[in-house]
Amino acid sequence: MNITVVGSGYVGLVTGACIAEMGNQVYCVDVDQTKIENLKQGILPIYEPGLEDIVRDNHASERLIFTTSLAEAVEQSEVFFIAVGTPPGEDGSADLRYVLEVARQIGDTLRAPAIIVNKSTVPVGTADLVREAISERLEARGVEIEFSVVSNPEFLKEGAAVNDFMHPDRIVIGADNEHARQVMSALYAPFIRNRPRTLFMGIRDAEMTKYAANAMLATKISFMNEIAGLCERLDVDVENVRVGIGSDERIGYHFIYAGCGYGGSCFPKDVKALIRIAHQSDFEPKLLQAVEARNEQQKHTLFNKLSSHFNGDLAGRTIAVWGLAFKPGTDDMREAPSVVLINSLINAGAKVRAFDPIARETARREFPEAWFADGRLEIVEGQYEAAIDADALCLVTEWKPFRRPDFRALKRLLNTPLIVDGRNQYDREQLQREGFAYYGIGRQPVAA
Ligand SMILES: NC(=O)c1ccc[n+]([C@@H]2O[C@H](COP(=O)([O-])OP(=O)(O)OC[C@H]3O[C@@H](n4cnc5c(N)ncnc54)[C@H](O)[C@@H]3O)[C@@H](O)[C@H]2O)c1
Repeated sequence: MNITVVGSGYVGLVTGACIAEMGNQVYCVDVDQTKIENLKQGILPIYEPGLEDIVRDNHASERLIFTTSLAEAVEQSEVFFIAVGTPPGEDGSADLRYVLEVARQIGDTLRAPAIIVNKSTVPVGTADLVREAISERLEARGVEIEFSVVSNPEFLKEGAAVNDFMHPDRIVIGADNEHARQVMSALYAPFIRNRPRTLFMGIRDAEMTKYAANAMLATKISFMNEIAGLCERLDVDVENVRVGIGSDERIGYHFIYAGCGYGGSCFPKDVKALIRIAHQSDFEPKLLQAVEARNEQQKHTLFNKLSSHFNGDLAGRTIAVWGLAFKPGTDDMREAPSVVLINSLINAGAKVRAFDPIARETARREFPEAWFADGRLEIVEGQYEAAIDADALCLVTEWKPFRRPDFRALKRLLNTPLIVDGRNQYDREQLQREGFAYYGIGRQPVAA
C-alpha cells in the first residue's frame, strides 16, 4: 500500500516507520525542515527504544521517504494519516489548527480517491471539520474526488511506542463505509495476525474512545494520589494499600502508583480538552475537573516537602534531581513534574543539579539560558555527580538506574542525607537503617 503520514513526531514517525516495516511504501511529511533533513541522515528528533533501527533500515530500503512536500507524497498515496499535534488552546480546548491545515493541504493537492485517517487526538466532530476543509478546497479547484475520513486514534505509550504499535492491544477504527473499513483492516492485518482485535465503530465513537481512555488512566492516578494524601495524615503506607487494592482483579495494578503527578503530552492536555468539550456541551464534568486539580496540586508535592523540611528556607541550598523526562523511556519533558519542581526550587533561591539518562538535551532547551549561565541550574552527565554536596536528592522519574542506587556512595556525596522520593521507589526502613531522612508519597517520613 502507498501511504502518507503527515507529522513526524512521536506518533507520526512511529506510525510511518512501523507501517513501512511491514512492506508498505510510506511518505513521512513534516513542515519542520531541520527534522526532515536530519531524518534523511538517520538522525531522529526523538528518543524511542527500537525506533532508530527501523527508521534507518526502511529509509535505506526506500520504503520510508522523508519530505516537507505533501504535494510530492500525494501523487503516490491512497491513505493519508494526519498525525500532527493538537496542543491545548488558551481555554484548554484542543487546538485543531494543525489538523485542519493539513486537511486543507490535502484538499489542495489530492489527485485520486483516498482515505484520510485522523490519528491525532481530536474532539468529537472533528472528522466532519476535516471533511468540510478538504471538500472546500476540492470545490475551489473545481474537481470532484471521492474520499473518506476515518478516525483511528493512537494508543501507543511513549517509551514503548514501537512495541505498542507492532503489538497493539486493540485497533479502534471509526468509519462510515465498508471500503474504508476494508482498507484499514488490510493495513493493520500484519500487526494483529495472531490476535485479531480491530474494533469497528462510528467515527464519533472512536474520537471519544481516545479521550475516555486517557481520562480514565489519569483518573486512576489522581485517585491514588488523593488516597496518598490521606494516608500521610492517617499514618498509613499507601504502598501497602496499593498492593491491597491492586490484587482485586476489578481494580488491577496498572496506573495506581502514587507519585508526584502525571505529565506528558497526552494526559494533561486530553483531560483539559475533555473538560472543555463537556462545558461546550453544557455538561458539568465534576470528576474530570477534580482529576485535573488533584494533578496540578500533586506536581507541587515534592517542592512542598523540601520546603517544609528546610522550614521554608531553600535559598542557597543545592538540590539534586534524578529524572527530568515525564516518565522513564522517553526524552519528552512536556508537562513533566520535574519542570514544576525545578522552577519552584529556582524561584525559591535554590540551586539545582539534575541528571536524566536520556532527556538532558531536552532539558537544556526547556529552561532559560540564564539559569545555566549563572549556575542556578546544571544538567550533569552522571547520576552520582548530581548528588555531590547537595542538600537533598529528589527522585522525580523512576528510570531503572535509580531503582537500586549505591546508598553508601550517596550518603558520602550528599551534604545532608536526605532523599525525597517522588515515585515511592525506596524502602523506607532500609533508608532509615542507612541513616537517611526520607520522604515518600503517601507514607510516613523518616527523620534523620
Ligand atoms: N505522544 C504520544 O504519546 C501520543 C499518543 C497517542 C496520541 N497522541 C496524539 O497524536 C498527535 C500527535 O502527537 P505527537 O506527540 O506525535 O506530536 P509531536 O508534537 O511530537 O509531532 C507533531 C509533528 O507535526 C508536525 N506538523 C505540524 N503541522 C504540520 C503540517 N501542517 N504539516 C506537516 N507536519 C506538521 C510538527 O512539525 C511535528 O513534527 C496529538 O494529537 C497527540 O495527542 C500522542
